[in-house]
Amino acid sequence: MFDKKTIKDADVRGKRVLVRVDFNVPLSDGLVTDDTRVRAALPTLRYLVDHGARVIVMSHLGRPKGAPDPQFSLRPVRRVLQRLLGRNVVFVDDIVGPEAHEAVDRMVDGEIIMLENVRFDPGEKANDPEFAKALASLGDIYVNDAFGAAHRAHASTEGVAHVLPAYAGLLLAREVETLTAMLAHPERPFVAILGGSKVSDKFGVIDRLLDCVDTLIIGGGMCFTLLVAKGIGVGNSLVEQEWVEPAKAMLAKATEKGVGLMLPVDFVIAEAIEPDVETRIVAREEIPAGMMGLDIGPTTVELFKGEITSARTIFWNGPMGVFEMAPFENGTKQVALAVSRNNRAVSVVGGGDSVAALKKFDLEERVTFVSTGGGASMKLLEGSELPGIAALQDA
Ligand code: 3PG
Repeated sequence: MFDKKTIKDADVRGKRVLVRVDFNVPLSDGLVTDDTRVRAALPTLRYLVDHGARVIVMSHLGRPKGAPDPQFSLRPVRRVLQRLLGRNVVFVDDIVGPEAHEAVDRMVDGEIIMLENVRFDPGEKANDPEFAKALASLGDIYVNDAFGAAHRAHASTEGVAHVLPAYAGLLLAREVETLTAMLAHPERPFVAILGGSKVSDKFGVIDRLLDCVDTLIIGGGMCFTLLVAKGIGVGNSLVEQEWVEPAKAMLAKATEKGVGLMLPVDFVIAEAIEPDVETRIVAREEIPAGMMGLDIGPTTVELFKGEITSARTIFWNGPMGVFEMAPFENGTKQVALAVSRNNRAVSVVGGGDSVAALKKFDLEERVTFVSTGGGASMKLLEGSELPGIAALQDA
């Protein structure tokens, strides 16, 4: 299923192993507020240390403008990594300069150092071959374990793989295996739940899922474009007008493929997205002008829960409403609960906001697999080639 060489195919003992991880984690007041991505990289880092490699960890964090910017320093992440690994991690305030080379030259087998944010160099996002070569000069072997950034063709995710022998890390391999197996051999019924604000962001994924699933549930802001495509007025709700025609084609494809495409039948509506705004519950045909749907309603919740409960494979990506605000959180919470309570199903939650929702309701441990990739998992599921994976050595 995964057709690239992994670190288990490499002889890493005594080698300088340059590992790209995705430590793009949320920070608040200089502290990491969610360490999921750091934890996810531990199996690869532990494997390398246990096999006597000299491990040089590199990552991006945020979107600095190609120059050092203290608010995007990886230094706070080093502390978290050190605590989780239970061993010292040397932080180098440099990427490819003399300080980085000196630190690498001082390394002994089984040691870990961490470089500063690779996006502090303009060569990273430009995928500058000179910068990729400079990175490569720090290592003997390259490992990509940054699944969350594998859709980016940057120097540390793609360019360097053309210079050094390039292997997949254990997380990256597991992400690809899980997501591709889900589409290729799902236990049925296979129910996918998609939400989030824009249908345009997920059109490719919807198209692919329609070839594989038995039921496709669509909630969140994106459902209004589909309702308009069905000729239903949606008041002031979010609609992407230019996507109404493609949405009609999507509805037709669902019918042609025999996929049950479920859209909400009622909504929690309000005049504004505000925490203390007055709300009402109405049938989907009854959203008045000036009001917008901001969460799925109770009848919809029951309908969706029924499908989720009888599924044997579940894929969930995107919230059902503005779950960050109490008046609009219920739909997402009920979906999260239904997914986590179905113990007979393989449940895969794909990145971004749906993972934030799982965390908010403390259900993260109760699903089978949580992807660390937002954009990357969407790209993989829509069938696009991910440059960070394509560049690795074939198995
Ligand atoms: C992510 O958080 O999705 C990845 O780390 C990629 O980050 P980017 O969108 O800034 O490239």
